[in-house]
Amino acid sequence: MGKSTNITWHDQTVTKQQRRENNKHHSCVLWFTGLSGSGKSTVANAVAKRLFDDRINSYVLDGDNIRFGINKDLGFSEEDRKENIRRIGEVSKLFVDSGQVVLTAFISPFREDRDKVRELLNEDEFIEIYIKCSLEACEARDPKGLYEKARQGIIKDFTGISSPYEEPNNPEIVVDTEENSIEECVELIVNYLKDKNFYIAE
Ligand SMILES: Nc1ncnc2c1ncn2[C@@H]1O[C@H](COP(=O)(O)OP(=O)(O)OP(=O)(O)O)[C@@H](O)[C@H]1O
Ligand SMILES: [Mg+2]
Repeated sequence: MGKSTNITWHDQTVTKQQRRENNKHHSCVLWFTGLSGSGKSTVANAVAKRLFDDRINSYVLDGDNIRFGINKDLGFSEEDRKENIRRIGEVSKLFVDSGQVVLTAFISPFREDRDKVRELLNEDEFIEIYIKCSLEACEARDPKGLYEKARQGIIKDFTGISSPYEEPNNPEIVVDTEENSIEECVELIVNYLKDKNFYIAE
């Protein structure tokens, strides 16, 4: 329970369903999870571009950007990582309620935290996308130089090096960025959405 007691939920006059009908597409969360450097931001932005071109309202919530703003009070302790994901989950739910597709690009290493977000949403509203890439390949890419700093001990609790990453047990989609090009990853994800009738391209 929260800290406030004298609060009452006020229903929206325009419903989620009406917004979806107006937009002519379903609204949902595409929850990207994977190691640092696996390609979450790259693939999420490429999918968002594709959705944009097809007139689907979408928005990317990305790791560091969120920590610059809404979550700037949070660090990387276990408790803060949990709170980080919880808030992102709640924000994502608002996007879904507003009739949009929200793509989230966070390492989100713990199964329990991701499952809690899943529980916030309806079954067809949470699509977990595992961005699969070996630690070796992520470390070789090291686009932000973070693995090098983690190996030197400059960054503590770094996922994959000094903090665990828990692979999803039953993700809706798995894309392997060592096997597939960025375009192939986008195709896989968009085809999933089309198959589920989320996505009505003109
Ligand atoms: N098939 C592919 N899909 C995605 N990225 C790829 C692929 N092949 C190579 N890359 C490269 O891998 C890197 C992935 O970096 P990106 O910033 O997207 O990772 P991330 O998962 O968002 O990491 P972080 O958790 O640190 O934000 C980029 O430099 C990208 O160009
Ligand atoms: Mg990223």
